[in-house]
Amino acid sequence: MKTAVLVPDAAGVERAAAVIRGGGLVAFPTETVYGLGADALNPSAVARIFAAKDRPAFDPLIVHVLDAADAARLADPLPESARRLIAAFWPGPLTVVVPKSPSVPGIVTAGLSTVALRSPAHSVARALINSAAVPVAAPSANRFSRISPTSAHAVLEQLDGRIDLVLDAGPTDIGVESTIVLCTGGRPALLRAGGLPVEDIQSLVGPLDLKHRSPMPQAPGGLPRHYAPSVPLFLHETVDDVPPEERSGTAALLFTARPVEGFLAVEHLSDDGDLAQAASRLFPALSHLEKTPARAIHAESVPQVGLGRAIMERLLKAASPE
Ligand code: TXA
Ligand code: MG
Repeated sequence: MKTAVLVPDAAGVERAAAVIRGGGLVAFPTETVYGLGADALNPSAVARIFAAKDRPAFDPLIVHVLDAADAARLADPLPESARRLIAAFWPGPLTVVVPKSPSVPGIVTAGLSTVALRSPAHSVARALINSAAVPVAAPSANRFSRISPTSAHAVLEQLDGRIDLVLDAGPTDIGVESTIVLCTGGRPALLRAGGLPVEDIQSLVGPLDLKHRSPMPQAPGGLPRHYAPSVPLFLHETVDDVPPEERSGTAALLFTARPVEGFLAVEHLSDDGDLAQAASRLFPALSHLEKTPARAIHAESVPQVGLGRAIMERLLKAASPE
């Protein structure tokens, strides 16, 4: 299959929507990362997502919708806690996990009784969902357990020839995936730190359960190694802790730009500590460093506040042994 790359003008979006309606696969930009979309109500289309990504069937997908009314049709019921979060943060980088309605095929939710719902803010994602006129199931558009794509080019590096089409709207804004909150009764629980800071959510609904174990222990929320470059990654407080003799032949991923000696390649996440900038550079920087001849990447920690929590969650998973 040849993968078409289209500009997301009205004609491009309409062609992509026709591919979705026809049961095909379209990679499209969201404000977080690029997603790989299919008609969420068509089980064989959803099966193609799993095949293209080499994704195990036990890992459920997020369903992308336009608004709370769409969400209410896919949930049964849509709990009050989810309604409050949706009213405050949609469209945006927040996914709510809620009891599913029978209309959602089991393959989307990996057989769970809950479904993950998100309304993206990106204008191209919204135009695509609107024009397809179906809910769009979409994981990040990468091969399973690899680095999430923040550009159409990064999508093609992993999925060229495996999907029908990519809508190329340039780099994404936030650069890490959505925050996922489980809303199934009791205190809402954080399943994945992401593009919406936990502090913003807690200031609205009070303390979240931050230690909740994912109902999908095998899914990326629970899998040890994920977001992983193709070479080993070691996480340090600061790369200044890496002894000189261990630097040669390896790469450094800095939090803030500064001169460091002895590494084969160096990337920095931020110029001077801005966490939003660091989040947007995380996956492109890892992707760049894994393409250098470096045999390992030494990354340094970022403060665990705001988007820093999402960055650290991903660095920790990238650093885990298989
Ligand atoms: O920003 C994002 O969330 C991006 C864009 C494309 O929207 N999507 C994304 O999807 O990151 P994905 O598949 O890479 O990560 C979604 C994760 C799953 O791996 C799983 O851990 C969790 O969401 N998830 C989905 N449905 C769930 C459910 N019913 N219960 C618990 N976790 C669920
Ligand atoms: Mg993913």
